[in-house]
Amino acid sequence: MTHTIAVLKGDGIGPEVTEAALSVLGACVPVRVREALVGGAAIDATGDPLPSATLETCLRSEAVLLGAVGGPRWEGTIRAEDGLLRLRQSLGLFANLRPARFMGLPTPLREALARHADILVVRELSGGVYFGQPRGGDGNEAFNTWRQSAAQVRRVAHVAFRAARRRRRRVTSVDKANVLEASRLWRRVVTEVAGEYPDVELEHRYVDAAAFELLKAPHRFDVVLTENLFGDILSDEVGVVAGSIGLLPSASLGEGPSLYEPVHGSAPDLAGRGTANPAGAILSVAMMLELSFGRAELARSLEAAVMATLRETRTPDLGGRATTAEFTEAVRHNLEWLRWSHPSPEDEASYEWGV
Ligand code: NAD
Ligand code: IPM
Ligand code: MN
Repeated sequence: MTHTIAVLKGDGIGPEVTEAALSVLGACVPVRVREALVGGAAIDATGDPLPSATLETCLRSEAVLLGAVGGPRWEGTIRAEDGLLRLRQSLGLFANLRPARFMGLPTPLREALARHADILVVRELSGGVYFGQPRGGDGNEAFNTWRQSAAQVRRVAHVAFRAARRRRRRVTSVDKANVLEASRLWRRVVTEVAGEYPDVELEHRYVDAAAFELLKAPHRFDVVLTENLFGDILSDEVGVVAGSIGLLPSASLGEGPSLYEPVHGSAPDLAGRGTANPAGAILSVAMMLELSFGRAELARSLEAAVMATLRETRTPDLGGRATTAEFTEAVRHNLEWLRWSHPSPEDEASYEWGV
């Protein structure tokens, strides 16, 4: 069966890592690609970071693959990042899954603890200070509104508890309930939802303490459930466990097609060099195979191929000298070898994204 996906390459290293991920996806399943503009590239072409044609293309596709948006050229009144935020809103995406685990790579953390780290950040994607109205300001003062509804908390909490059931059955809910009303509501609703999952252990942490503990003792976390802004920050932080921000994938789930994108940004400092780490984008495609196409066994093979590749082929962010193209070619090679030598890779599965 041919899968139809929308591909939004975006800016900076976005096109480089998206092309790498697409070439790997094409080696896994037959795909029909519909390209569309987003972010700065869309501003340049149309004046709008999310043209209506792009949104229509996404809505007509089974899934969306996005590279990254943003850059110094689009930091005026019309911002590239708005394209991504409006896309999340328009697709009704509310649960952003951002897994990070130890991958056998150098890390500044105590390796004895990092070795067992396997964390899934479940980030609420539709509320919080990102979208709260009113917002605005003049040259002397600016303001945003932090708004969170019980319904938003409830639906993302269910995603987190269901994920925990397929993992190590522990949810750490992260908030700032000692200061913020929105966080007090968050904590109350998460506690209510936890009542429906007596087999899952729930703990609460304030975000400042959680940020410290995630690096001090990453092995003790399983699912980290948190709101939009805290999730943005903590999901970059846990990249330390993996070894580079370039390794982290994500999936955003909602009512319609899901969106897959690496956690990292457009890395303007690296754009055009051909040395960006494409692993985060490639692992996002693995999440697409599992969550949108129901091909968990292929996702496991692809993850295994990335892990095998990382043993000897590393881009400069990991201290290596490989180019994006060399890394991608090695993943394709290892994937072919794994599929040939392990016709039933589910037996070999070492890891599940947990959803
Ligand atoms: P960034 O993630 O782009 O880069 C942070 C650092 O990590 C840089 O040193 C960069 O070189 C490095 N890095 C990132 N991805 C890498 C990869 N795949 N391989 C190797 N190294 C990598 O974050 P930033 O510099 O804060 O933001 C740059 C732009 O990207 C901004 O405009 C920001 O708004 C945007 N951004 C977009 C997204 C997205 O589209 N999802 C996410 C984050 C940031
Ligand atoms: C991310 C990014 C986005 C966010 C920006 C580019 C709007 O940092 O996906 O993590 O803050 O959500
Ligand atoms: Mn971010």
